[in-house]
Amino acid sequence: MSADIDWDSIHNLAKDAMKKAYAPYSKFPVGVAALVNDGRLISGANVENASYGIGLCAECSLVSALTMSGGGRLVAIVCVDANGNYLAPCGRCRQLIFEHGGNEALLMTPDGPQKMSAMLPWAFGPEDLK
Ligand code: THU
Repeated sequence: MSADIDWDSIHNLAKDAMKKAYAPYSKFPVGVAALVNDGRLISGANVENASYGIGLCAECSLVSALTMSGGGRLVAIVCVDANGNYLAPCGRCRQLIFEHGGNEALLMTPDGPQKMSAMLPWAFGPEDLK
């Protein structure tokens, strides 16, 4: 399955999304894109606020796009910085990705694709609420 993923397309979409970021305060635009289990590609970018602490990470935008475009499960995710280099999602964003992709979702890193079970070990998630 991992070998079938067109990582270049996801990476290119993440770079395009990064250009749409609203990051006037940090000047640190972030873009993210993902392959959904039905084959569609979605993306997001960070959206900051004058009230600094309530700025939204790119992954917030991504999971909103996921839900609003029909839902589904995240299969493969690429997050990038202003240079298009792979960026490690912050802890809160790993939780967002985990909610919608689970342990098997793949996140691209400089060491290649990593499962969410490695990026967020022993995660709290929907199963724990049962
Ligand atoms: N940021 C993201 O959008 N995603 C991450 O996973 C890391 C951080 C944003 C938040 C803020 O707008 C900027 O990067 C600098 O922290």
